[in-house]
Amino acid sequence: MKRTIKDLKALRGKVVLLRVDFNVPLDENENITDATRIINEIPTINYLSEQGAKIVIISHLGRPEGFELRKSLWPVALYLMKNLKCNVSFCNTVLGDEAVERIKALREGNVLLLENIRFYKEETQCDKKFSKKLASMADIFVDDAFGVAHRENASNYGVARLLPNAVGFLVEQEIENLTKIIEEPKQPFVALIGGAKVKSKVKILERFIEKADVILIGGAMAYTFLRAKGENIGTSIYYPESERDAKLIMEKAEMAGKKLLLPVDHLVVRDSDKKQKPFIVESMKGDMAGFDIGPKTMKLYAKELKNAGKIFWNGPMGLFEKEEYSQGTIAMAQAIASSKAFSVVGGGDTVSAVNKAGVAGRIGFISTGGGATLEYIEKGSLPALDIIQERVK
Ligand code: 3PG
Repeated sequence: MKRTIKDLKALRGKVVLLRVDFNVPLDENENITDATRIINEIPTINYLSEQGAKIVIISHLGRPEGFELRKSLWPVALYLMKNLKCNVSFCNTVLGDEAVERIKALREGNVLLLENIRFYKEETQCDKKFSKKLASMADIFVDDAFGVAHRENASNYGVARLLPNAVGFLVEQEIENLTKIIEEPKQPFVALIGGAKVKSKVKILERFIEKADVILIGGAMAYTFLRAKGENIGTSIYYPESERDAKLIMEKAEMAGKKLLLPVDHLVVRDSDKKQKPFIVESMKGDMAGFDIGPKTMKLYAKELKNAGKIFWNGPMGLFEKEEYSQGTIAMAQAIASSKAFSVVGGGDTVSAVNKAGVAGRIGFISTGGGATLEYIEKGSLPALDIIQERVK
């Protein structure tokens, strides 16, 4: 059992570096389209604030290459300013004099949100000097960024080694609920995996096969698998660097006698004529690009979900942010909600799809992690959490 913020004593006046996952979806006008990850973090922030800590929040947003204005955490700062009882300020840098001065000026119980930590390449490199600088700004480190705990980054793994540490309420809840799905004995275990983060997810999926009985693939992920199978995917998005892994996963699944299903029809548009309406095909060709699963696939996958004993879902089935491509994803959300299985749904976009479908209340547990949740279910641990101190009995 990890040490939690409740185990930390005498927080008044202490600078707490709180790592969170505020990697939330934003629309083209930088409006937050789903605030679940922020809402779920509020209890931890409120608790630390009530204890009189000076709270310095670190998060990433997206995968920027250097500074990108569109990946600024400013919209999140505005959200916190509106929704927290304590005073919230924003610092448009993470290190340097300005950040140091702003932390010095921070009053007990108040929050300072720092700019996107991934504007610094040292973050994902887990640079030692960078981790040291981060640690030097605080007295205590609290890791509540479950969604990124499968990554060894400077602001979680790197800094945790250098400061007294604990997890927040969000991580505590995640561990409690994900342990439930791991221990749930009802079979079959159906995993529905989609989305576009193919490269990192196929690696986890390769090991995840051993846990699941049925694997349903959709979204951009599916086109890489279909292509690896030798099918024509037209001009659909696919990730050539993951084709080999996809092939390996299919072979592994076959050898292990696991059912791995790929879409049997698709909602496509023709590249050459963007004004044309999307239409359904069973086999793609030429200038067709897939944007959602088709009705036959929806039916096929819904049947597997209905018969499941436990379900894990991560990644939308198509470009669901656009109404015309959202049917497959919404259908899957509804199928999971209607199933009697214990279900866990994870990942920023997937959670947002569940909210869009209006079925959040009928899901067993909504996890804030995507890849992290997949890896936790597979291994029962995550590198950035392993490093957090155990609770003293
Ligand atoms: C997520 O959205 O899954 C987490 O925030 C991690 O993001 P990453 O895959 O870009 O590391």
